[in-house]
Amino acid sequence: MLDARHSIRSHTGGTLSSADIGAEVTLAGWVHRRRDHGGLIFVDLRDRSGLVQCTFAPEAAEAFATAERLRPEWVVEVRGIVARRPEGTENPDMATGEVDVVVSAVTVLNTALTPPFEIEDGIETDETTRMRYRYLDIRRPEMLESLVLRDRVTQGFRAALGSRGFLEVETPILTKSTPEGARDFVVPSRMNAGKFYALPQSPQLFKQLLMVAGVERYYQMARCFRDEDLRADRQPEFTQVDIELSFCTQDHILGLIEEVMAEVMAGAGAEWPAEVTRLTYAEAMDRYGSDRPDTRFGMELRSLADVFASSEFKVFAGALASGGVVKGINAAGCGDWSRGRIDALNQRAIDAGAKGLAWVAFTTAGEVRSPVAKFFTDEEMAALRETLGVEPGDLVLMVADAAETANEVLGTLRVHLGEELGLAAEGFHPLWVIDFPLLKWDADEERWSANHHPFTRPFDEHLDTLESDPGAVLSYSYDLVLNGLEIGGGTLRVHDTGLQERILGVMGISAEEARDKFGFLLDALAHGAPPHGGIAFGLDRLVMLLAGGTSIRDVIAFPKTSSGACPLTGAPDVVSARQLKEVHLKTD
Ligand code: AMO
Ligand code: AMP
Repeated sequence: MLDARHSIRSHTGGTLSSADIGAEVTLAGWVHRRRDHGGLIFVDLRDRSGLVQCTFAPEAAEAFATAERLRPEWVVEVRGIVARRPEGTENPDMATGEVDVVVSAVTVLNTALTPPFEIEDGIETDETTRMRYRYLDIRRPEMLESLVLRDRVTQGFRAALGSRGFLEVETPILTKSTPEGARDFVVPSRMNAGKFYALPQSPQLFKQLLMVAGVERYYQMARCFRDEDLRADRQPEFTQVDIELSFCTQDHILGLIEEVMAEVMAGAGAEWPAEVTRLTYAEAMDRYGSDRPDTRFGMELRSLADVFASSEFKVFAGALASGGVVKGINAAGCGDWSRGRIDALNQRAIDAGAKGLAWVAFTTAGEVRSPVAKFFTDEEMAALRETLGVEPGDLVLMVADAAETANEVLGTLRVHLGEELGLAAEGFHPLWVIDFPLLKWDADEERWSANHHPFTRPFDEHLDTLESDPGAVLSYSYDLVLNGLEIGGGTLRVHDTGLQERILGVMGISAEEARDKFGFLLDALAHGAPPHGGIAFGLDRLVMLLAGGTSIRDVIAFPKTSSGACPLTGAPDVVSARQLKEVHLKTD
């Protein structure tokens, strides 16, 4: 709570109540609104704690004269007596609505220009203007509340981790490239001509070094920098709650994080289950077509291979014969949709990589509409209804393709329909997605690349096939997914130099390149690295979900636009020729 001590105030205005009636108070804040009411002037005074109505009567002549000049957002100090509002003038919509402050003296501490938008919640001002005047934007209660919430979550993590023996350690910002898969931001070095620092994409390597160093339990509110295309849930600089611990199994880490999250969420006033469901990556893809499934609603993907095992429909038979799948979802309640609406789904499926979308609409009137049902036998139709639990009024959507494509397409449709139909249940629905494949095939570069990062530990039982069947190797890895958003991810790490070199080898990273890029890590692993692992949360994303928002920009005090610019400061900006010269750079 905001404290009035050590300030020119005696009280904070937004916390006054009937308990303060009769008290002489000194308040300070901004003029939120001023109303002239036949002889009386009312000023709603705003400070961080909220609003309180101040009343100026002509009897206090000097204060009254000043009040006549007050304009919105001027900064004032007022002195007066807290009084009960006359009967009938109470304002139940205002926390301080039972009282007002009868002002005896007022001092203008500062004047203000007319703000470019209202200092109110729910304004429709464009975001760039809000970002240009962020200091005014943050005066709006909803923005201030997100910062308060963010602080509460941060403090929650500090308390929960601190009480479990985690040390907060800072790691460098000017450093060397970390392989998290995005592009680096680079900083030229003045003292080392032609050389560059990279800003950390995460403190990954440093936290591993801290484990080698015997810190055993580390955390940091870590600023991370990634030069990637921006979206609502991505910023070029963002904050991770970065965690690492030694001498632990995957189960230890998941159990510990569940405890920590329960405390953090309780502190933020949100419900959180004592135990979080775990789903393997393979199962998540199979059932939801996504590695970050939104489990606030059902509409799970089902295999229709048995239903269409001897199908006459060439598209289905062909897919199954070539080792692919036929899968479907039941868009319950969409059976009466118009052809145009269904065609739009078809287009969405094609955009997501499908060759086509087969659909069967079961109308509420009991009819069947479908361009493909004519290829299906009565038994197949019956089995289809049975498998997908079809009721009259439902719409079945099916894709035949390689498993990966069919899952992805249906997963995309599922999320789209979930949003369009408003299916998501209230509250927070967390889920661990575990056991990711260690590697994924990068078709452009024609090599295996790391799914998380190259320091992830493969399943012990898959070590023998690391070189012979890299794609089948699973890893000790886990993402925490909340309402369809990845809010955290981590892995157990490789703590053995030989194994680390083998993995880099499978990824086509030569011994020299490995030495050059992270020789320091390989050296450290050879100096008695304990088994270790960790996780990092996207703090911005977590706070965004807690705030009920849809953009992480709303929970970051000074965010960047989608083109990476800061409308307030004008960054990024040109620098002088002299500065360029000092860092040994030329631009043309
Ligand atoms: P990862 O790359 O999965 O893991 O990042 C961890 C979490 O950080 C958040 N995040 C972002 N948030 C906002 N803007 C971005 N551009 C952005 N990128 C990522 C996500 C994500 O889950 N070093 C590993 C962690 C580990 O293995 O311990 C890492 O950085 O919520
Ligand atoms: P076609 O025989 O190619 O004209 O396709 C007949 C119907 O099947 C159309 O409605 C297509 O959208 C649909 N379709 C085509 N390919 C696929 C596929 N791979 N999976 C599901 N449906 C498909």
